[in-house]
Amino acid sequence: MVPHQLEQILLILLDNAMKYSNERYIIKVEGTTREKFVELKVIDFGIGIPEKDLPYVFDRFYRVDKARSRLQGGTGLGLAIAKRLAECNLGQISITSKENEGTTVTVRFPLAEKRVP
Ligand SMILES: Nc1ncnc2c1ncn2[C@@H]1O[C@H](COP(=O)(O)OP(=O)(O)OP(=O)(O)O)[C@@H](O)[C@H]1O
Ligand SMILES: [Mg+2]
Repeated sequence: MVPHQLEQILLILLDNAMKYSNERYIIKVEGTTREKFVELKVIDFGIGIPEKDLPYVFDRFYRVDKARSRLQGGTGLGLAIAKRLAECNLGQISITSKENEGTTVTVRFPLAEKRVP
């Protein structure tokens, strides 16, 4: 994973977690290293995403609840860019969410080979 691309993915996910948190400003970031890959999770306890919208949130310009999200600005590009960046680095990104409970976005990408300096 190119470091600044990983940084960009995390910024996109943290921006969403903040923006869609309402007043419950607790955001968890978890990282796990497995044998061959790294898994990062950004977890919030905010407004969540309705089940019917979940399949589309990685589409360009898709925003849930246009009226509400217009107030918060944004173009609906964040997750589409994050997905593209993850896939360019042989990674994957997925989302689970429950309305009024919160959202978890998981990014998984291959562990870099150890290099002898
Ligand atoms: N953590 C989250 N909690 C609740 N809804 C979310 C969350 N992340 C994304 N969404 C929903 O998915 C939509 C798409 O997210 P995305 O980041 O692509 O766009 P955006 O945040 O609206 O705008 P941009 O990221 O371009 O500023 C959002 O409009 C929002 O409705
Ligand atoms: Mg966003």
